[in-house]
This record gives sequence, structure tokens and C-alpha cells, in this order.
Amino acid sequence: MATSNSFSYDDLYSRNSIAIPRAENRHAKYDFAVAYPDPETLPLDGLAESLKTALEREGKGLALYPVSAGLPSLREWVAERLTRERNMQVSPEDIVLTSGSGEAISMLIAALTDPGDVLLTEEYVYLGTLRAMRRFGADVRSVKCDNDGIIPEELETTLSGLAAEGRKVKFLYTIPVFQNPLGWTMSLERRIKTLEITQKYGVPVLEDDCYVDLRFEGEDVTSFHSLDDTGRVLYVGSFSKIVAPGVRLGYMVAPPEVIQRAMSFKGGGGVNQFAALAVQEYAAGHMDRHIEEQNQALRVKRDAMLSALGENFGDAAQWSKPEGGLYVWLEMPEGTDLAGLQEPVFNQGVGYYNGTMFSPEGRGANCARLCFGHPTAETVSEGIAELARILEGHGVLRA
Ligand SMILES: Cc1ncc(COP(=O)(O)O)c(C=O)c1O
Repeated sequence: MATSNSFSYDDLYSRNSIAIPRAENRHAKYDFAVAYPDPETLPLDGLAESLKTALEREGKGLALYPVSAGLPSLREWVAERLTRERNMQVSPEDIVLTSGSGEAISMLIAALTDPGDVLLTEEYVYLGTLRAMRRFGADVRSVKCDNDGIIPEELETTLSGLAAEGRKVKFLYTIPVFQNPLGWTMSLERRIKTLEITQKYGVPVLEDDCYVDLRFEGEDVTSFHSLDDTGRVLYVGSFSKIVAPGVRLGYMVAPPEVIQRAMSFKGGGGVNQFAALAVQEYAAGHMDRHIEEQNQALRVKRDAMLSALGENFGDAAQWSKPEGGLYVWLEMPEGTDLAGLQEPVFNQGVGYYNGTMFSPEGRGANCARLCFGHPTAETVSEGIAELARILEGHGVLRA
């Protein structure tokens, strides 16, 4: 056991490495900060049974290292589902399984980004992606959005400005369905416009569809990928939101030459075959039913959050009304310091993530993401009332 650390690595670290403190996994009594699913809705019995069936059938295959693109039968399942549900013309060869979609995103960023390259995102963006972009030295710029998604005129202005400066934009990253953290779904018209504009500037799109199955209201909008037949849309998806984050399974869909480059950043010899076997077997027999049940539970929680916000915040704030996913975006009047209050409010029992955490430019101190996935509906209602009470105590909400 090491007892002293007298050797210094300080001169040895790569330029790309950054020190990430070990996550403490702190939870407030009312935890709206993290995007965990409700443990009660995890399909544990189904997964256990599926794992047993799959191991009896092909468990001896675990003696071998998995193929680098991941379990073929799971890639087949993904390809069929994307063809059926997302109108995508894809085959298992176009798919690589990854350790969560986070790995797929990181691999694509790594394969496409040199330090200083510009990457575009929506106005606020999933933290994991933002961190990965920064890790590879990207100059991350956001494009203004409204409730229909990216505003085309803003995208055009941003791209023409960057072109005039001679800056290279490597891709536009979008979370078009139940955007994290904003909650909206990008309309079809906006998707078409976004593709037209990015095409004009020779910029590909990375579509992150990680929440697409969590719809409990409204109509699906076809994927970006389905609107393009030139290979300029890269796509990632995840099993975290429809099975469990702990299975660490996601995937990318990309043209073969991009896959080859991205694979150079994949460590660990393929993805966990043990998890893939269980999920494939489970998915083949039970996925649609499970998603339906999970979404019914999520709808009740979303409703609880919206009515609690109405009762406790009234017209003192605005918030999104998502048709699915896990998040409500709360916007308080300009000048309200939800960023500064995040820690004190956490210590008083309510967790949220403030807007600046999701903004490439550090904007949004008056905003917060509230996740309704993990707590029960009752806890959601109590927690929002508690949040309002605490904010009143800090003088930022009038009783
Ligand atoms: C938009 C988005 N993309 C990707 C991920 C990564 O998920 P995972 O790596 O668990 O698939 C998350 C996680 O919350 C997310 O919100």
C-alpha cells in the first residue's frame, strides 16, 4: 500500500488532461439536480431473467474478447429500432456500441477536434458534452434558441461571422428532443432549416437523441439523420434512459470513415458483453412495454412539477412544459442569482443545477434545471414548495 507520494507527475501530464475531482455524489433531500431515473421503475426482474437466458444460450462467448463494434445482435436490434422509430436507413455495420452515449460523443469529439476548432451547441447544453468539448481544446460557441429549437437566423449569423473570421467549425451538436437542459423538442421546420444552413457552410451535425423514447405526450418529430442522405449527420443514442445508466450502453451511427477514426479513441476492447447480452435479450422481448410504463410514471412526475411550480412560483418565474424527457427549465427574472444560491439552497435541502453550468459562455445565472425523474411525484411537489420557501427566505421570491 502506498504511504507517501513523493514522486511528482506535474511535468508529465498531457496538455489534454484536466484534473477532475472525484465526484462526491452528494444528494440534497429534494434532489432536482441529477438526472437519475426512479430506481423503482428499473426493470430488474426482467434484466435478471434475460441475463440468465442469454448466458445459457451464448455465455461461453464471454471467453472471447467482444468484437470491437460490440455485440452484433444488439447492434441489429438498434438498427431495426432506428429504422422503425426514427426513419433512419441504417444497418448494424453503421453502428458502434459504446460505454454509454457519453463515450460515443467523446470519441466523435476526439476524432474531429483540434485545439482551437470551433464547435457549435445550442444555447445551453448537456454538461458532459460541454466538458468533453473543452477537454479537447474546442472553442465552444452557442447559438440562441427558442421553444422550437435553434433560431435559424442566429445560426446563419454565427456561421457567417465565423466564416468571415476564417474560423473552422467542425460540427454543430444538437439534442433535438427534450433538450437537456431546456426541455423543448426542435420542430421539423427548424430541423430542415438547420440542415440547410449547416450544409451551406459545410458543417456536419451531431444529433444526440438520448431522450427520444421518453415521450409521454405529443407527436414524434423525425430525426435529423432521416432528413439527410449525404452522410453529414452523425447520431448517438443511449440505453441509459430506457434501461438504466448503470448498464453503461450507448451507440453511435456514423459513416464508415468516421467510425474508423472514432474507434482510434475507443479504449477497453469493445463494450461490456455481459451487459450487452442482458440488454439485448431484454430489449427483444420487453422494451416497448417497459418504455410505456416508465413514461406513464414520468408523466405523473412532470405534472406534479408543473402544478407545484404554478402553485408556488405563480408569475414570479417562467418554466418550460416538456412533452417528455426529464427536465423542466426554470427562468427567474434577470438579476436573480440562482448560481450564487445553488450551494446555500443545496445545504438547506434542495438540489438544482443553475444555468451557467450548461452555458458555453457562462450565461443563465437566473435559470435552473429541475429534473423530475428520480423523486416520487409526492416528493416533487413537496420539494418545489420547499424550494420556493427557501428562495423566499433569500429574498428572491416574494411570498
Ligand atoms: C443529452 C445527453 N447526452 C448524453 C448523455 C450521456 O448518457 P450515457 O453516457 O449514460 O448514455 C446524457 C446523460 O445524461 C445526456 O443528457
